[in-house]
Amino acid sequence: MRLSSSLFFALILAMPLYGQDIKVLYDEAELPQFTLPDPLIAKDGTKITTAEAWEKVRRPELLELFETEVYGKAPAPLPISSRLLEEREVFGGKGTLRRVQLFLTGKEDGPQAELLLYLPKSDKPVPVVAALNFKGNHTLSDDPAIPLANAWVRNNAEDGVKNHKASEESRGAAKSRWPIERILDRGYGLATVYYGDIDPDFDDDFQNGIHGAFQKEGEAKPAADEWGSIAGWAFGLSRIADFLQQQDAVDHDRLIVMGHSRLGKTSLWAGATDPRFALVISNNSGCGGAALSRRRFGESVRRINTSFPHWFCDNFLEYNDNEDACPVDQHELIALIAPRPVLICSAEDDRWADPHGEFLSGLYADPVYRLLGTDGLAVDEMPPLDKLIDSRIGYRIRPGKHDVTPSDWEAYLDFADKQLGGK
Ligand code: GCU
Repeated sequence: MRLSSSLFFALILAMPLYGQDIKVLYDEAELPQFTLPDPLIAKDGTKITTAEAWEKVRRPELLELFETEVYGKAPAPLPISSRLLEEREVFGGKGTLRRVQLFLTGKEDGPQAELLLYLPKSDKPVPVVAALNFKGNHTLSDDPAIPLANAWVRNNAEDGVKNHKASEESRGAAKSRWPIERILDRGYGLATVYYGDIDPDFDDDFQNGIHGAFQKEGEAKPAADEWGSIAGWAFGLSRIADFLQQQDAVDHDRLIVMGHSRLGKTSLWAGATDPRFALVISNNSGCGGAALSRRRFGESVRRINTSFPHWFCDNFLEYNDNEDACPVDQHELIALIAPRPVLICSAEDDRWADPHGEFLSGLYADPVYRLLGTDGLAVDEMPPLDKLIDSRIGYRIRPGKHDVTPSDWEAYLDFADKQLGGK
């Protein structure tokens, strides 16, 4: 249904007012004083001093706190099923593309997503980067044979947020973010799904997408401690991992999860909840991702919960302007990935995402990595622009804005070569 033009303009006028009373802090001198929770002190006050106590006591505690207070608990998965739609050579025979229909609950009439799996020609299984994309599989390249996304897509049409349809004009629109041929040249595969296939990204009380398929009898929407959209997308990434683990051409021990922005928050949560991801990369993930919430620099908890009420679980609303009351902060999300390698990537001009706060999460997760016997973050000050810190907790900040660039991909794959042992 089209909105009447007067209603449309009323909405446009109202937009800047949305959350305008929320002051945004961009000055380190203005930040509140805070004390971060110690990832190595258990709820009962005991200091965690062994890897065993971390695994048995503290890690499960932290995981549960993030589930109930931040992202919401996802249901137990059902076995997936899949159907190969197409397989062909790409890039002059350098690699193959498999298009696959993924049935996320195993049923052909249940929620489903179309997956693109690009693999380099190789005589042995290859490491694969699993990543959701923002605009539809057809936007990753100019390849005319990839169908337009079927699900809702974000665009600037005048019909409100709900009923967008992908159009031919958007083919290839995101290709600068996906240097697929280069990824294959470096010996890695890429598995990607459009995130809207898993859960359309607007607030509809979870009537569509993956959530509906798991709704409990008598519950109209997820409870206050149950999954929001980020947890839903992370659940989708885990189903991609299910699929990749069924593929002989894929190295099951070298699955990498990567995401940008809201999908960077998602890749961190997927990495925290699913240890099959051997390496985790977040790009410009900001608030609710790698950035420390207690700093309140750039986007704050209240601001993100106001603009995107569906991303987190409803319990997270309690921490609007009340970050100190939250029993966890985001360095503990990084710690949940330990001892697996994690790379945190920032962009200098992306102040909304608080690059310094993203760095500090890595730094304050370091003691957990060290306890588990690996190195942590090799530096304690932010490195110069473009310098990849490739310790087990990796960090890089590059010049420029909120985006994914070819140089970002070089850094991801350099980090993966170092941490997962190259091709
Ligand atoms: C908004 C939001 C961020 C998010 C970003 C994105 O800017 O405030 O939290 O990371 O969108 O996903 O593009």
